[in-house]
Amino acid sequence: MCGIIGVVGSDETLATLLQGLERLEYRGYDSAGIALVRAGHTWRARTAEGTESVAALRLECKDAPQDYRSGIGHTRWATHGAPEAENAHPHLDCSGHVAIIHNGIIENHAQLREELSQRGHHFTSVTDTEVVAHLVEELRARGLDLLDAVRHALLRVRGAFAIAVMDASEPDVIVAARRISPLVVGTAPGVSYLASDVPAILDRATAFYAVNDDEVVRLGPEGFRAVDLEGAPVRLRQLQIDWDLETAEKGGFDDFMSKEIAEQPDAVFATLLDRQRGDGTIVFDELRISDQELREVRRVVLVACGTSLHAAQVAKYAIERWARLSVDVDIASEYRYRDPIVEIGTLVIGVSQSGETIDTIQATREAQRRGARVVAISNIVDSSLAREADAVIYTRAGLEVSVASTKAFVAQVAALELLALRLAQLRETLTTSEIEALLGGLHEISGQIATALSRRGDVDAVATQLLHAHDYFFIGRHVGFPTALEGALKLKEITYMHAEGYAAGELKHGPLALIEPGVIVVAVTTDANMHEKILSNVAEVKARGATVIAVAADDDEQIGAVADFVLRVPRTDPMFTPMIDIVPLQLLAYSLARGLGRNVDRPRNLAKTVTVE
Ligand code: G6P
Repeated sequence: MCGIIGVVGSDETLATLLQGLERLEYRGYDSAGIALVRAGHTWRARTAEGTESVAALRLECKDAPQDYRSGIGHTRWATHGAPEAENAHPHLDCSGHVAIIHNGIIENHAQLREELSQRGHHFTSVTDTEVVAHLVEELRARGLDLLDAVRHALLRVRGAFAIAVMDASEPDVIVAARRISPLVVGTAPGVSYLASDVPAILDRATAFYAVNDDEVVRLGPEGFRAVDLEGAPVRLRQLQIDWDLETAEKGGFDDFMSKEIAEQPDAVFATLLDRQRGDGTIVFDELRISDQELREVRRVVLVACGTSLHAAQVAKYAIERWARLSVDVDIASEYRYRDPIVEIGTLVIGVSQSGETIDTIQATREAQRRGARVVAISNIVDSSLAREADAVIYTRAGLEVSVASTKAFVAQVAALELLALRLAQLRETLTTSEIEALLGGLHEISGQIATALSRRGDVDAVATQLLHAHDYFFIGRHVGFPTALEGALKLKEITYMHAEGYAAGELKHGPLALIEPGVIVVAVTTDANMHEKILSNVAEVKARGATVIAVAADDDEQIGAVADFVLRVPRTDPMFTPMIDIVPLQLLAYSLARGLGRNVDRPRNLAKTVTVE
């Protein structure tokens, strides 16, 4: 998984590419490279400096020629081939004229490489991508123009790609194509752009277009034209873009993660805004699925990855309790390959901040193939998931840049719980006054998150005492369980410390054997219905020497006697607690990561949007 960018016809080619790559680093950053192309000549630079690859590339380009008007750039998250400079993109053909960048995986690369090698091609990397450069080289030698050469090369390729190809003998052209991996095209007078996503070219292009699967686009200074893989013309759909560049910047915070944690009250507020009519009916303007269809739903399956999976797990409790529908939550990468059963009346909900996570997209595609109706919960308008689903509900968290997801989680929980209430309304499984009371509670969450955020100092004080710790267990019951999973995920993502999330009642079936002095147990204790049970679990780990940090409601008078540290949060309905309880857990992970000197926005080995399986 990687970020790609290209520009043709610009006086600021190098600056555009470097700036774009900086904005695409969230997609991967273990190596980076650019190729500048003009008639008969390609200038290439590549670096592999871990999280600093793009910064190193900028240095490397200090003396780059300024008069090239076209070029392509890439920031890599290694799949095939180690993160070393030789495997960094762009890759070249044997002549050095054809340059290519690629995000995705060419699944039949081994067979193609073998064939091409037998025909005399010389490979300089071990990537899957390089085969495409050599395929294009052969097709160009047969007289095809660049568009047709790329098109025919892609007919030979299996797998996923967002790809951009240049050739120094046709220097004012970039040919780009997409299958599964994201790709957008942008235009401005006399210049055309391509990128993995809009922010990379947001302040350069004035109009943006989505490229669909198996479409190939020829970009030149005068604009672009698109065809399908058979060569038939296609029209690209123009995207409505409502963000400005400032939203993609840090806005005065040290890093994106702390900015995004602080934006959580707004994320929930905006996600819930205007979702109710005067008569109390919950409405989702963008939900293109009729009330009747929703009434006929018999079973719900949620598919997601990472943090979004934890939001989906919270939704299971809410939909089952309020709408009395049976709910399964599936890890997206498991769902697709286990021959899932899709009965009549199955509603599949794909939850994805980016809407580009390939495992989630493939899972929802599989569900659609088997006859399910699919609703996407996405934070990005017009994302691939949003476009492909039968219906969509947008979380309105704003652009999330930090790899570790924070504000998207609370917005997802808010949107999913609102959907659960809508299902309850349609199925009449809750009374009007029960729904009103719950909606009232939901609308208070934004302010309660702000209160939890204002107690950051308490969290920092605990974190400074724990910098030596290596082992963490996060425990919770009911919706406290997915909260614990998410707290553990945050900690491991950004501190690199061992952390496990566990259902508190399950501790005694194994993990209790690991509890000893030095182990930290973080207990989510805010669910009033489960309070006694979780306190017993806390007593069990205390008795075995663990240090206990409790996330507890303001009015909990018992917790002080059993926990070593208490992080207080406002009291709310148990079902809403994940949106508030996660705040001190995010802050704890953040504070520890900063204390340990970690790069919180760019944790090692991870990427923001994972577009490979
Ligand atoms: C990556 C990110 C996580 C994110 C997950 C799912 O692993 O690092 O923060 O939760 O992908 O992403 P999605 O965009 O589908 O929510």
